[in-house]
Amino acid sequence: MPIVTKGLEGIAVAQTRIGDVRGDIGQLIYYGYDINELAGNVCFEEVIHLLWDGRLPNRKELEQLESELIAARPLPKAVVDLLHLIPRNAPPMHVLRTAVSMLGTLDPDADLNTPQANRRKAVKLVAQLPVITAYFHRIRTNKPPVAPSPKLNSAANFLYMLNGEPPSGEAAATMDMAFVLHAEHAFNASTFSARVTIATLSDMYSAITSAIGTLKGPLHGGANEGVIQMLLEIGDESRVDDYVRSALSNKKRIMGIGHRVYKTLDPRAPHLKRLAEKLSAKVGEPKWLRMSERIASIMKQEKNLNANVDFYSATVYYSLGIPTDLFTPIFAIARMAGWTAHVLEQLADNRLIRPLSEYTGPEGLKVIPIDQR
Ligand SMILES: CC(C)(COP(=O)(O)OP(=O)(O)OC[C@H]1O[C@@H](n2cnc3c(N)ncnc32)[C@H](O)[C@@H]1OP(=O)(O)O)[C@@H](O)C(=O)NCCC(=O)NCCS
Repeated sequence: MPIVTKGLEGIAVAQTRIGDVRGDIGQLIYYGYDINELAGNVCFEEVIHLLWDGRLPNRKELEQLESELIAARPLPKAVVDLLHLIPRNAPPMHVLRTAVSMLGTLDPDADLNTPQANRRKAVKLVAQLPVITAYFHRIRTNKPPVAPSPKLNSAANFLYMLNGEPPSGEAAATMDMAFVLHAEHAFNASTFSARVTIATLSDMYSAITSAIGTLKGPLHGGANEGVIQMLLEIGDESRVDDYVRSALSNKKRIMGIGHRVYKTLDPRAPHLKRLAEKLSAKVGEPKWLRMSERIASIMKQEKNLNANVDFYSATVYYSLGIPTDLFTPIFAIARMAGWTAHVLEQLADNRLIRPLSEYTGPEGLKVIPIDQR
């Protein structure tokens, strides 16, 4: 009889060199570097190189990767047409999933499974997801899409394409740091689903389509959007205590709190909290942050649960003026670095992922003819 571990909790299903989440001590590692060592010291493109190649790039390698990413930004016309066709009120995560799936139909190498072809696909996916997100947002708000700027890095270019004007240095640096913090997280649900898909020797686009569909759920990437919805619903600091206590007594989950693996601190949360503090002070709406702190403190006290990455990233994005339904797409844009790295790693030493299940259904039934049922 197989041993069943619901939700695969505590089960290691493969080895990886890319990242590690050490839940007991609140530590996150990207290829040997503690996230606290990386945050503020490297840019998103350096992290992409680290995750794909296992080491930080030198200046020449970084410039090479940056040029590859910039060159890969323009979308195929068919995808631009698709973005015009998709209903404007479609949730952006559905749009991302659909557009990535379409990219697979347009790439003649989609099913070519060589390291070179897969690397090209990884570059394309990292470069184009922000473009897809920004284009769709411009289209749905009746604004002309903005062409990518070859002068800007991934984070700054995303904000530029979203808003139609170059971001401030602070906004660009904040977005870059958010990308760095969200880039990789070991065998989280979306990365795992990407690995399950590619392990059948399907293709990179299919694996990433699976990952986007998985990230979208409110128990995973969708939580950041839920945080801001909750803050808006609470509306005022005076209502926080009642809201949280009533949610707890009704067994409702507070978005952005708790984690399957981190049982102490989520090491990404303090970085995002610091960014949120800086921005909220400037934007002149510090009440969201005060409300968040109060929620976090009640949750710590009542349930011994901590804020996770989504809790403060929500306030950061909100303060940057980003629409709430783009919060999870931003997570996807950053995590594309980790997803593609894991797909490449899985392919380098592949084994079909096929777990067992414990059957609990009935036995020995006989078919009754259809008109007697
Ligand atoms: C992330 C998450 C799915 C992890 O879930 P999990 O590992 O299944 O955690 P558990 O369900 O075992 O949680 C243990 C206890 O804490 C409670 N709990 C966990 N997260 C909670 C939350 N956000 N709000 C209220 N209660 C929560 C559970 O109900 C459970 O309580 P009980 O023992 O009284 O039944 C969960 O914490 C959650 O739903 N968080 C909100 C969504 C979120 O922020 N997701 C992003 C993760 S990065």
